[in-house]
Amino acid sequence: MTRIDNNASDDGIAVTVRGMVKHYGETKALDGVDLDVREGTVMGVLGPNGAGKTTLVRILSTLLQPDAGQATVAGYDVLRQPRQLRRVIGLTGQYASVDEKLPGWENLYMIGRLLDLPRKDARRRADELLERFSLTDAAKRPASTYSGGMRRRLDLAASMIGRPEVLFLDEPTTGLDPRTRNEVWDEVKTMVGGGVTVLLTTQYMEEAEQLASELTVVDRGKVIAGGVVDELKAKVGGRTLRVRPADPLQLRPLAGDLDQLGITGLASTTVDTQGGAVLVPILSDEQLTAVVGAITARGITLSSITTELPSLDEVFLSLTGHRASAPQDAMPTETREEVAV
Ligand SMILES: Nc1ncnc2c1ncn2[C@@H]1O[C@H](COP(=O)(O)OP(=O)(O)O)[C@@H](O)[C@H]1O
Ligand SMILES: [Mg+2]
Repeated sequence: MTRIDNNASDDGIAVTVRGMVKHYGETKALDGVDLDVREGTVMGVLGPNGAGKTTLVRILSTLLQPDAGQATVAGYDVLRQPRQLRRVIGLTGQYASVDEKLPGWENLYMIGRLLDLPRKDARRRADELLERFSLTDAAKRPASTYSGGMRRRLDLAASMIGRPEVLFLDEPTTGLDPRTRNEVWDEVKTMVGGGVTVLLTTQYMEEAEQLASELTVVDRGKVIAGGVVDELKAKVGGRTLRVRPADPLQLRPLAGDLDQLGITGLASTTVDTQGGAVLVPILSDEQLTAVVGAITARGITLSSITTELPSLDEVFLSLTGHRASAPQDAMPTETREEVAV
């Protein structure tokens, strides 16, 4: 069968979703969702628990039938060409799909065989992917002995066996510790560098910022905002710079100093006495540079300086005027990006 609608290579769009609806009884899991993912890019679908993210991913990977609406992935229609579509996608869920009893290598080899790869190719692919995801040393150990991060990397490797054109990552780092989360981000970046189109769901603004170029914010089955990540970030007020002087006595003088700087558009600082830090809202890289420069010029010794992104809750508040439906955890502080002074 030929691909209907537009072939992905014709219009540069790898995923299109139009008017997608899925109800569970009274629950409107998806309530008319529209979405486009450009080829070779990462689309972040950001939303709290219950927003409909997994429902969307399941429909796009043909695991679930929608009540209404249309979607194509890599040019294939989700309803009319499910078999062809499945051949060009990869899927990694929030919960690892690997067989715990089997060694990492066996897991990958088995998936390769399920995908109809000849034995030799399946073997080579398993070796290759274990290497790429830094799991070669653990190849022979049962997956049950892997750390959380290794499991998630094995899961990512598994989703790559069939050389997918489009990869669905459903909350790939939820439940991971900050260091492991960074490892997974690095792997995803590598995959994207290889030309894969990714639709990534997440509850973390920081994850979206790390990986996605465009963002679709969903809440209760509806798209409430969308666009280029940087634009959305600017809309919700950019970042906060957290400056921690080595000497706590310098907290207030430092805050006062920064308020006196007269940097264009710089909002006033707040002092976090408990955290021993001055918080400076930053709207641009220029402001960031100016603030760091001013601190350096005053010769104040700092113990740390980090930037923080708005939490999902803050994003929702500024975009919609109400809080996200479910309470969210903040990103663990350890992952906050360090800024060189
Ligand atoms: N199989 C199901 N049966 C009934 N309700 C469901 C089912 N799957 C999801 N839901 C409901 O649909 C909504 C969206 O769920 P989901 O797509 O899992 O959201 P998310 O992945 O963003 O957390 C939630 O209210 C959820 O409780
Ligand atoms: Mg989910």
